[in-house]
Amino acid sequence: DASDIEKGTYPHFMLKEIDEQPFVIRNIIQKYQNDDGTVRLDENIREAMKSSDRIYIIAAGTSYHAGLVGKQLIEKIAGRPVEVHIASEFLYNMPLLSENPLFIFISQSGETADLRGVLVEVKEKGYKTLTVTNVPGSTLSREADFTLHTHAGPEIAVASTKAYTAQMAVLTILAVDTANSKGTKLDFDPIQELGIVASAMETLCDQKEKLEQIARDYLSTTRNCFFIGRAADYFVCLEGALKLKEISYIQAEGFAGGELKHGTIALIEDGTPVIAIATQEHVNLSIRGNVKEVAARGANPCIVSMEGLEHDGDAFVIPKVHEYLTSLVTVIPLQLISYYAALHRDCDVDKPRNLAKSVTVE
Ligand code: AGP
Repeated sequence: DASDIEKGTYPHFMLKEIDEQPFVIRNIIQKYQNDDGTVRLDENIREAMKSSDRIYIIAAGTSYHAGLVGKQLIEKIAGRPVEVHIASEFLYNMPLLSENPLFIFISQSGETADLRGVLVEVKEKGYKTLTVTNVPGSTLSREADFTLHTHAGPEIAVASTKAYTAQMAVLTILAVDTANSKGTKLDFDPIQELGIVASAMETLCDQKEKLEQIARDYLSTTRNCFFIGRAADYFVCLEGALKLKEISYIQAEGFAGGELKHGTIALIEDGTPVIAIATQEHVNLSIRGNVKEVAARGANPCIVSMEGLEHDGDAFVIPKVHEYLTSLVTVIPLQLISYYAALHRDCDVDKPRNLAKSVTVE
């Protein structure tokens, strides 16, 4: 059937879409780069970013996780304050808004009803809206003032992979453009760094056998799994856990390393898999401490470290990338581990139970 043709030689869309990520990042670079290497963005979006005093990111699921990273990117690169909100909760707990808010809706499909509910409400109040989406003609794209296209190509698997990394790459471009328009000098070349990210992704996509083995060793029979990380790694933990939950049905949670002692550590038993993400130099000692704590209580830690950083015992090491952009790379092994865990447990990888690709009901 038609879907088999689109899958090509791949057994699942998810695996194909994971593998496409390096090309997607290069495609984004091309779409948003001028001949002289500077960033190209719609004037109106630039103006909207410039004139807003606070940005409110609204999203759900994986796109929400991209928003958490996006907040850091925009605040660190462009110096603009950002709040990130889960779409379905926003209207219940509406924060006090700034004078000139800009609302950014992040949505792969552009059809998520929870986001639309917020969009309609804030538009009515006259606030500016921007949709970051993979589907430019979608509802959220048509109804917002502006659209930023993530250029990832159609994403078919229910579990979002390439849309997530594309969203973070496009938010990087948005942050850089805002910094440039304010005349902020950056001490790194973000476009070049995104190119390095694409190569690192390729290196990781070539390590499927190793990652399949990790999935086999840690996840073939377990009932649960924890992801721990600090700083930027914490956000990837949330995404890694969601991926694992939705396609392998393993109960999984992402935690900030420092929160373990406040409760979660009580759940650690003999053999509990704990995937520890340790790519941030400034928190490396602390997260290594957390790994020791859980190991001392019987956990089976699996460490994901970055080139150049110290780690204790065996680790899966990701290539070095700019510290702001680690999430785009660290997520690749997590996506692949989830994929293989689901496969080993005979789950329907592309169409997990109870889930729809776009959630058009509230
Ligand atoms: C992720 O793997 C999901 N299936 C889900 O969380 C998704 O990210 C969420 O429903 C939001 O969708 P959207 O990006 O199309 O708005």
